[in-house]
Amino acid sequence: MLTTFVAPSFLAADFSHAAEALEAVESAGAPWIHLDIMDGRFVPNLTFGPKMLADLRKHSALFFDAHLMTVEPESLVDAFIDAGADAVTFHIEACVHAHRLLEKIRSRGKKAGISLVPSTPVSAISELLHCVDLVLVMTVNPGFGGQKLIPECVEKVRRLSEIKHARGLEYLIAVDGGINSETAAAIIAAGADVLVMGSAFFESDSRASLVRSIAAIPRPDSSPARQSPTI
Ligand code: DX5
Ligand code: ZN
Repeated sequence: MLTTFVAPSFLAADFSHAAEALEAVESAGAPWIHLDIMDGRFVPNLTFGPKMLADLRKHSALFFDAHLMTVEPESLVDAFIDAGADAVTFHIEACVHAHRLLEKIRSRGKKAGISLVPSTPVSAISELLHCVDLVLVMTVNPGFGGQKLIPECVEKVRRLSEIKHARGLEYLIAVDGGINSETAAAIIAAGADVLVMGSAFFESDSRASLVRSIAAIPRPDSSPARQSPTI
């Protein structure tokens, strides 16, 4: 059975010491690093482009989880894959032909993810769930680190978990925004597999024990007979 794991978010690192941030993630025992790409249009903030990701790639064998918070993600996916992303996640709210884009990411041998902002219901991606590797549930309004988790989003995690088991699918459920030692238990109980963690990870002075303590939180019973969703 899969264990829950932390994907530290590079957004909370000191960008002027990027290689050290990668080392901090590796030495804490986290398998992924989450890389937030913001375009100043889909979200009111800017981060970095494919060159940054390519430069980071030279310093690390971590799994690179690129989270595109951009309009027209279809115009950027190839560049981030070429730069070294292992998974590319884009927002359903930013893409009309999401099915085509998910297939494209998979055809390039990478994991394909779809994300939902807090106001978007799970039903918006119901017809895509058989062709995703990852669903990223935003638990804050995207654009900034250090925000407080919006509790209503936890129910979407539960819903995605029910659908996954009822349909026999295997996508990972990731959560992003306001995740810390206090909020982790409820989100794991709801069915989350990947906990993206920015401020809580980089501000911690015991990162390895934080990562271990998250992995040790009991996961819910995943019996397929447990639920019968109606979507
Ligand atoms: C926010 C980003 C997150 C961010 C989370 O829009 O997508 O990945 O880094 O930061 P924290 O964990 O501080 O809420
Ligand atoms: Zn993110």
